[in-house]
Amino acid sequence: MRQIGKWSRLVIVTGLCALGACAGHSPFDIFVDSTKDCAEMLLQRDIQTVAKTREQRFLGKVPGTTARCLGGKHAEKLREGPWLDWPNYWAAGDATSLAPARLLANSKVIGPNAHGINGALYELEVQRIELIKFNLFDNNKTYEAYVTGRDGEAGPVLNTWPEMRLLQGHPDFKSVGGDQTQVCRGELIRFRTLTGTCNDIRNPLMGSTHQLFARNVEFDTTFPDLGLNELTKNRHGDRLGLLKPDPQTISRRLFTRTQSQPDRCRDGYGLPGGAKEAACEYKKAPFFNVLAAFWIQFMTHDWFSHLVEGHNRPEWMAVGCAAQLVKNIEQPLTGEDAKKLGCRPDDKIDAAYIAEGTEPRSFTQGDKTYLTRAPKTTANHVTAWWDASQLYGYDEQSGQRVKRNPNDPAKLLLMPVREGEGEGDKLGYLPVFEAGDPINPEWSGQEATAFPDNWSIGTSFYHNVFAREHNAFVDAFRKQAALTPDGDSGLRNPVNPDDVIRYRDVTPNELFEVARLVVAAEIAKIHTTEWTTQLLYNEPLNRGMNANWHGVFAKQEEVADALKEVVRRLDDTNDAKKANSLYAALAGGPGIFGLGNRVYDGVPLVGLIDPNKEDRWDLKNDDHINGGVNHFGSPFNFPEEFITVYRLHPLLPDLIEYREWNKEPNVIRHNVPVIETFRGKATEAMRQKGLANWALSMGRQRLGALTLQNHPQFLQNLKTPRLQSPTQQIDVAALDLIRDRERGVPRYNEFRRQYGLKQLTSFDDFVDTRLPQDTPARREQAQLVNTLREVYGQHPCDSSKKITEAQLNDDGSPVNDCLGHPNGSLIDNIEDVDTVVGWLAEFRRPHGFAISETQFVVFILNASRRLFSDRFFTSSFRPEFYSTLGVEWVMHNGPGPEMMEQGTPNGHEQQVSPMKRVLLRTMPELAGELQTVVNAFDPWARDRGAYYSLQWKARTGAEGDEAFGSGQAPSLLAEPPR
Ligand code: HEM
Repeated sequence: MRQIGKWSRLVIVTGLCALGACAGHSPFDIFVDSTKDCAEMLLQRDIQTVAKTREQRFLGKVPGTTARCLGGKHAEKLREGPWLDWPNYWAAGDATSLAPARLLANSKVIGPNAHGINGALYELEVQRIELIKFNLFDNNKTYEAYVTGRDGEAGPVLNTWPEMRLLQGHPDFKSVGGDQTQVCRGELIRFRTLTGTCNDIRNPLMGSTHQLFARNVEFDTTFPDLGLNELTKNRHGDRLGLLKPDPQTISRRLFTRTQSQPDRCRDGYGLPGGAKEAACEYKKAPFFNVLAAFWIQFMTHDWFSHLVEGHNRPEWMAVGCAAQLVKNIEQPLTGEDAKKLGCRPDDKIDAAYIAEGTEPRSFTQGDKTYLTRAPKTTANHVTAWWDASQLYGYDEQSGQRVKRNPNDPAKLLLMPVREGEGEGDKLGYLPVFEAGDPINPEWSGQEATAFPDNWSIGTSFYHNVFAREHNAFVDAFRKQAALTPDGDSGLRNPVNPDDVIRYRDVTPNELFEVARLVVAAEIAKIHTTEWTTQLLYNEPLNRGMNANWHGVFAKQEEVADALKEVVRRLDDTNDAKKANSLYAALAGGPGIFGLGNRVYDGVPLVGLIDPNKEDRWDLKNDDHINGGVNHFGSPFNFPEEFITVYRLHPLLPDLIEYREWNKEPNVIRHNVPVIETFRGKATEAMRQKGLANWALSMGRQRLGALTLQNHPQFLQNLKTPRLQSPTQQIDVAALDLIRDRERGVPRYNEFRRQYGLKQLTSFDDFVDTRLPQDTPARREQAQLVNTLREVYGQHPCDSSKKITEAQLNDDGSPVNDCLGHPNGSLIDNIEDVDTVVGWLAEFRRPHGFAISETQFVVFILNASRRLFSDRFFTSSFRPEFYSTLGVEWVMHNGPGPEMMEQGTPNGHEQQVSPMKRVLLRTMPELAGELQTVVNAFDPWARDRGAYYSLQWKARTGAEGDEAFGSGQAPSLLAEPPR
């Protein structure tokens, strides 16, 4: 535990706590508590600060005094093991985590509950700052400058890179400046461009289609299978390979959902006609619905794709079902073994694309040698921006798939294909691909949209919803234009920045692009403030995510403005890492969204808290347009590791419990296999049954918990005609492991160390020791640990072998192969565990976390970075780009003034959620069903109960809903009460 001086502690706590982490509470509350534990914590200087070097990182573990101050004796006791400590603090769980009623326990400002939440937020902020400081590794040849600096400027504050210039031959090469300094201007900066260029006006190429994925881990820890250096060899011996341990064996033993009535599930293919008798059991998360599962697939299609037009490299390779470990020795699988496991040795898949596979150059700085990039790189074949490219396109071909309404090209084409009883049906449905559209043959029959791969009822749902939303915005804009044709739309053209653009002057094409900006921002807001707060359903994260978006001072505009200005000017400081740390921390004050979109004269903090001050933001000023972005010294793209933690296939059920909104919503009418809605069948199912019925069905159903033995069977047995193999089937769960291995993701334990989390020392660490021994959950966890041991094996350890440089043992010695066990003892091959398997095996989680803490740290870093780096979410979130109506639409979740939710859910006044508003606009017939819904991703008929309850209990009016019939099934991820 590092310790710091009194004054620096005060500054950091005040800075972080007041301006970012502590969500509007007094910065000094942590100091004025009179309890003995907190006094002791302060006296002993046990407050964590940002680490100076990688191996000194925080790791989320605190001393006993801190734990006692922030969570009582309970929190102190639970510090055993590798897991984060803040989830044990006061008020970080459900109602049982609130401090017992005593003086100040209910205070929002001081007292134990406030301390618990603020302490958690403080630790999360320290972690985020450390992640920004230690985990940015760009593959685009900018990393050397990041380490060594350039022209006297330190690497972490560099904000333009020659590697991010457009190359000769690019159609816009000349327009941005050609061989001279490149700056995007004019038409190129008005809207989101098709391929994502010119988002950052001085780095035209950044985030655009086909740019390389970044990394969040040190380059020499990637591609462990290749054994390229001593540490990797020491860590894994000769135990790893592309198909070693066998991925299909892992899938069948560790991923398969067990079925008590397999003939009613039939490998996830259910029964003909969506018969209700079909049954595929799965482990369910009570606080997250199937809409949330498909939402995240819809998001990933916007953010990243390794595939090009649904294909990989045309080189067919085997995918396992060939071997297993028997008593730590690899043995071939016999036909009988394969049959017993249920895997298929004849499956084949096309190999992953590799962008560069030549040996990377290295360089030296100080006494350390670095690689300039990972040993192999891969490219992101869609834009990395949150620009709704899955709807609107990311290159010429995908753009051609998007159909506009010929009668009003500002709109997307929607067809009146269904005579439903709902108002929403009149808004129409997406058209189907036609002959001549540039698509893969397997996509024919599907709705026409830019990203058509892995289409199902879920993706069809969101594409239709947001096409309707796009058109709803266009309609509202046109309505306003009809009322005030000569009024100022707020829009400006950077080519003639001083010319007012009246409503009547806005062309259909311009309006289309404005609607795209608005829809993309709405999606980002839904994701940040609604989806994520339900994914991470507890108070610290609710405050943290809202602070990311609205800022801590959402209701105090002057303070927020002042802080925006402070943050904007921090960019000018040359104290590299410090500036980045402060920037990240302070940005929580005003919120990342809209950072830099107002510019004021005067002295920050003093002169700026003046309601009459004048906004000087100017479209003629490049620094104003671009001034809100911060890339922290490393060009933005997602890291390869991000894709790994989004391999969320267990979220999907095999069967959808189909209901109808206008009959009796409590009745499940059919069990429709998801696979029966795959590709073109999704379109049929959508048109036959209608958007609102699917919304209701997926809104009420719980999604699958992210844990072991919970992958959908249909994905393990996915029939895919394009595959050149005897089976034409693929196990997507096994493929998830193979792809990560092909792309060099470090295995689980080093992955955690790299992200500043504590390593595990055996498989037993996965067991949630808070649960009593004799509970079903604890017994199942122990069984799974045994299976992990059988599948990954054990080896006699050698303490002379150092295995990592990312962390040290508590006594400062290097971490070695024995992980603290005696030399020569048989230890678990925990180092070899595939990262996806590892995070699925984390049975102990923060309260209300649908994901594990390992996934979570990856999100902390990258979720805020994709906001920080995007001009359209920061300094260009302005009426000049979005129109006045567009800005209001994003801020208020739709047309008109802000609408507030009834009551105070979990103690907060909140806007009617953005997704609920979208659903109400696009399917007005659901108004009754949605009345009690506070978060569109919480199962709609669940009683949310008191403070962050996870209970599976019907709300009033849904008592007859069959889904609540059997009560709450015992869960592998059970949480013990405090
Ligand atoms: C019907 C539903 C789905 C189907 C049929 C499906 C199918 C697939 C397939 C076949 C691949 C492998 C592509 C390859 O590497 O060759 C894949 C990759 C992937 N899937 Fe799914 N998936 C579905 C739903 C989901 C959901 C709900 C998520 C949640 C986030 C998800 C996340 C991913 C990710 C992150 C990848 C890796 C993509 C990449 O490498 O760029 N999928 N999926």
